[in-house]
Amino acid sequence: MKAKIAVLAGDGVGREIVPEAVKVLQAIGEKYQHTFEFTSADIGGQAIDKVGVPLPQETLALAKQSDAVLLGAVGGPKWEGLEYSLRPERALLGIREALGLYANLRPAKVYPNLVDASTLKREVIEGIDILVVRELTGGIYFGKPKGIEKLPNGEERGVNTEVYTTEEIRRIGKVAFEAARKRRKKVTSVDKANVLESSELWRRVMIEVQKSYPDVELHHIYVDNAAMQLVRNPRQFDVMVCNNIFGDILSDEAAMLTGSIGMLPSASIGAKVGLFEPIHGSAPDIAGKNIANPIATIASAGMMLSYAFKLEKEAEAIEQAIVKTLDMGYRTKDIQGPDTRVVGTTEMGDAILRNLN
Ligand code: NAI
Ligand code: MG
Repeated sequence: MKAKIAVLAGDGVGREIVPEAVKVLQAIGEKYQHTFEFTSADIGGQAIDKVGVPLPQETLALAKQSDAVLLGAVGGPKWEGLEYSLRPERALLGIREALGLYANLRPAKVYPNLVDASTLKREVIEGIDILVVRELTGGIYFGKPKGIEKLPNGEERGVNTEVYTTEEIRRIGKVAFEAARKRRKKVTSVDKANVLESSELWRRVMIEVQKSYPDVELHHIYVDNAAMQLVRNPRQFDVMVCNNIFGDILSDEAAMLTGSIGMLPSASIGAKVGLFEPIHGSAPDIAGKNIANPIATIASAGMMLSYAFKLEKEAEAIEQAIVKTLDMGYRTKDIQGPDTRVVGTTEMGDAILRNLN
């Protein structure tokens, strides 16, 4: 196949880890005879320095004309003083919104050799493989009315509104069930249906959606219990589907079960063009030293192959190469352990490349 990939490395370690993922995608292209065409553009602080805005029109235009976007990270101390609308991080919301990406997918899985990187006990986290599917463009972060108003008595009132339509719930539900079909065929829908009407509707629509997926089990769980179960017995979960705010919180919790932010990829999908990025930020404290872990970004490229291009075999090849490289003892500093071989960002990328089959 032929695909156009927009490459937005951004700031800090983004500039070091993204090239490693591009390297791996190029090798996949050669091995499996696909033509991936890469075009780079500016985003974040780097774009601010060049043209004064975090998300230049040309960058957005490139993203829209591409088949998928590979993003590094944005932000850093240099731009922290800027007003909110001009901050690098603004570009993230801007691009997600412009591309209509309503589903955010975050796998949290423990690689066999990294079990001890977690702060949780080995017997709790061994073998976990969770996919959190978070609704990304609705709910309380966008619902109206919103704002802070002055009251006649001089006090103030802050308002946000949780709003979901059946259509918004249905489409995120479908993403979750489709994903579960490729996995262990179990969806856990997270809500607060005992208190919130919006959750009552959420639950009802999930039950509706499940009827088209008779091969996939549907379970419901209240969000407070979900937070508890994630640390008590995370292996019970396969796909968790959440509204925007519950997913924001639970996806961070699920991610941290595995212990290392440098390992965790993500996909934002929903419309024509998907966006794939590591969950971590620009890590200014380690940028420019060739020590950042590129695995989260390489795994994000793997998610691109699977979700954007339906290249399952190729995605699996990347996954296997990561596993093999870890098995051989290669570690970046953030995941080092006893009897391992600590290497830099580019060396880790090279090792994964060599292990591609
Ligand atoms: P961060 O994720 O950049 O870093 C948190 C900690 O994890 C740091 O100690 C860092 O060194 C470490 N870390 C992160 N990625 C790593 C990797 N690949 N390998 C090894 N260690 C890694 O979060 P922080 O420090 O809160 O934010 C730094 C900047 O990034 C801020 O400007 C923030 O706004 C921005 N940010 C951007 C995001 C994005 O582009 N999607 C997401 C989160 C933060
Ligand atoms: Mg968050």
